Amino acid sequence: MDSTVGRDREHGTVLVTGGTGTLGRLVVPRLRDAGRAVRVLTRGERPPEDGVAYVTGDLTTGQGVDAAVDGAEVIVHCAGTTTGDGEKTETLVRAAARAGTPHLVYISVVGADRVPVVSRVDRAMFGYFASKRAAEDVVAGSGLPWTTLRATQFHDLMLTTARQMAKLPVIPVPSGFRFQPVDTGEVADRLVELALGAPAALAPDIAGPRVYAMDDLVRGYLRARGKHRPIVPVPAPGRAARAYRDGANLAPDRAVGRRTWEEFLAARVT
Ligand SMILES: NC(=O)c1ccc[n+]([C@@H]2O[C@H](COP(=O)([O-])OP(=O)(O)OC[C@H]3O[C@@H](n4cnc5c(N)ncnc54)[C@H](OP(=O)(O)O)[C@@H]3O)[C@@H](O)[C@H]2O)c1
Repeated sequence: MDSTVGRDREHGTVLVTGGTGTLGRLVVPRLRDAGRAVRVLTRGERPPEDGVAYVTGDLTTGQGVDAAVDGAEVIVHCAGTTTGDGEKTETLVRAAARAGTPHLVYISVVGADRVPVVSRVDRAMFGYFASKRAAEDVVAGSGLPWTTLRATQFHDLMLTTARQMAKLPVIPVPSGFRFQPVDTGEVADRLVELALGAPAALAPDIAGPRVYAMDDLVRGYLRARGKHRPIVPVPAPGRAARAYRDGANLAPDRAVGRRTWEEFLAARVT
């Protein structure tokens, strides 16, 4: 990489796709604090605020994407849904390659390469992992300088899941499922560090400090809310579920996150 490109990256505009989402919302101010001009791609319309420009566009239709990537030196790609991230990422990559050679930084999930999504049952429960894997492949094959960070489930996602489950009178929890939730702010810190550094290809995973059985995560939430619910283990069929039981979504050797689930709950749940 020549030094001119490096200098541009240091000072150029950073585009954040998904900059309105749970993770992206935390990435944007960190980039601003680092002195970067920030642009956010969103399907909504928003006036600029706090030095952040919003560009309306949609990675599913391609509308507005060329304008969003124009002149960006770095693209932090946080936009995602549960399906179709491969296609959305292709749309982004095509536009980015037409515009130049930005550093493309992608957030994926631990297990994208280890959770097999082969049957209809796998797809129904774990299609997300195939979608993330497809997007990873698009990023790695983009011809752009790239970095991909795989993270375990964010505390925020586990909280949303626990809240939904706690609405049921009896809570079914897939037997043998474990999680290693990580703080979203810590993932944002690392993603920004990677975005402002040299392209790193597949970066070491980021995972939370502890592994929990899923029923313990739910119990922790119930305790924090002062609620009581029976929890019933249920079997989950399919190869993807077996991989989950085998810990494909965990990275115990990369337990670099500091904030625990208990600390997160104490701050967020009253
Ligand atoms: N949550 C987790 O535990 C976890 C773990 C590992 C990795 N990840 C990955 O981290 C990323 C961010 O997750 P998150 O939890 O922050 O997601 P989120 O809160 O659901 O936010 C999703 C974002 O994607 C944008 N988006 C969705 N469809 C789009 C489209 N067609 N065109 C343009 N933008 C679109 C949304 O923007 P608008 O609505 O403003 O258009 C929103 O900002 C995702 O790629 C996810 O797979 C998440």
